[in-house]
Amino acid sequence: MKRLSNHGVGLAPARDLVTPVSSHNEWDPLEEVIVGIADGARFPPWHAAVEAVLPPAKADHIRAHAGQAFPADIVDGARRELDLFSALLEREGIKVRRPDPRDKQASFGGPGWTSTGLYEAMPRDVILVVGDELIECPMAWRSRYFEVLAYRPLLKEYFAAGARWSAAPRPELPDRLYDDGWRQAGGELPPRLAVSEFEPTFDAADFIRCGRDIFVQLSHVTNRMGVDWLRRHLGGAYRVHEVAFDDDRPMHIDASLMPLAPGKLLINPERVRIVPELFKAWEVRAAPPPPPRTQPLFLCSGWINMNVLMLDPQRVIVEAQDDPMAEALEAWGFEAIRCPFRHFHALGGSFHCATLDVRRAGGLESYF
Ligand code: ARG
Repeated sequence: MKRLSNHGVGLAPARDLVTPVSSHNEWDPLEEVIVGIADGARFPPWHAAVEAVLPPAKADHIRAHAGQAFPADIVDGARRELDLFSALLEREGIKVRRPDPRDKQASFGGPGWTSTGLYEAMPRDVILVVGDELIECPMAWRSRYFEVLAYRPLLKEYFAAGARWSAAPRPELPDRLYDDGWRQAGGELPPRLAVSEFEPTFDAADFIRCGRDIFVQLSHVTNRMGVDWLRRHLGGAYRVHEVAFDDDRPMHIDASLMPLAPGKLLINPERVRIVPELFKAWEVRAAPPPPPRTQPLFLCSGWINMNVLMLDPQRVIVEAQDDPMAEALEAWGFEAIRCPFRHFHALGGSFHCATLDVRRAGGLESYF
């Protein structure tokens, strides 16, 4: 556990506080993690920010099933995989926490809109951990407006134990937030986004942490006002760098850019044509192409193969059938630990999405 010194010099007698939340990057030794759940997962109700990120071949299917339950075999398979994954992490000595399932069928809303819920499968999307702070994100998908409530029992517990806990300004999500301009997009960088600058919105998974340097992509859920809000909120101890990739469906950076350890960056070779300048001194390798698969991917691309989770700077969790990725990472000096996760992929993510690293050993450093 990390120790924080008491800043109240001269007030109370000096006392060390143990913080339950401390995570500065994607690779320090993992000590405690939240793993999502698949129970009751539903397709998102339809709106522009949803349509903009869908694989074109899947859009019609998802529109037809908007708001309905995911196929039971996928949810059951994903549940089994998440339980196996959690058991694997526990065997490695990592404390695993799970959210509380909520009723995703219940409708809720804001001024002028209503929605039903999505899932509690991807804690990575909803909460950003920066050091000892938990930040609730202003999600642009209406179906995700209250998703964070599934994690509130844990957030309250971490808060009671000394973590800092905050939330970005609560968005209004009116129709005018969404911008149809992305339909006419012609390969601009960054692409035309499905969210306007009406108010700040961002998903935590559009950020990736390397100590004092945090990288972010603008996406169909993360706008510039959202990035500015976070940058100002974090203050001078952090540098928030905006990066843009060749991706006209951007949503979540963790299938495009994956820092695996200090000096080692995995990139999506289709999207990252120019490696961000700061990584010039790092060894950069391209992710191998995704392996063929029979199960459908509804909400993401095959590049979800690079959505790996680091247990420490050497050990990495890789999908059980993904030989190309396991071999590529082994050849790079990592130890690949395999875990089946193919059903979970259908929900739109993999190991990095499915987790939120609440505590990793190690402190705040500069890696550039
Ligand atoms: N948009 C990415 C892709 O299709 C998937 C990223 C999923 N990440 C997440 N944290 N849910 O390649």
